[in-house]
Amino acid sequence: MAIAKNPHILILNGPNLNLLGTREPEIYGRDTLADIEKRLKAKAKKLGYQIDFQQHNGEGEMVTAIQSARGRAAGIIINPAAYSHTSVAILDALLAVNLPTIEVHLSNPYRREPFRHKSYVSTVARGVICGCGALGYELALDALVNILAQA
Ligand code: DQA
Repeated sequence: MAIAKNPHILILNGPNLNLLGTREPEIYGRDTLADIEKRLKAKAKKLGYQIDFQQHNGEGEMVTAIQSARGRAAGIIINPAAYSHTSVAILDALLAVNLPTIEVHLSNPYRREPFRHKSYVSTVARGVICGCGALGYELALDALVNILAQA
């Protein structure tokens, strides 16, 4: 008998997040992206989901990852990093795939420079979690699983 695979969630991280742990730790904390991935994988398993955890520095790679989620992922958790504030292409990709999406930021962009106060992705995200550090990813997973359970 075939065993049904758990539905999967795409967790997508944008540019420079590969440097977490050493990148401006006073702003972004000391956890590495690998630490966050490990915790998210364990949490997702308990919730009956598997996660596809990705990081890309390029905008086009982010767009391709979002497009690939269509028909495969149940939802998306995205930290678009600097592309939050600039990328119509990522916004359009999210609109095209039309999957429930939670946006995460480790820092609180609203406490920072004015250019970080606008996020294109926030205009399509079902929810936005910011300023909670790495915990924000876990909160986002809870929120997305809750949304999926109601769908
Ligand atoms: C960030 C906030 C962005 O403004 C910044 O460009 C990042 C990280 C965050 O997680 O706090 O690279 O998305």
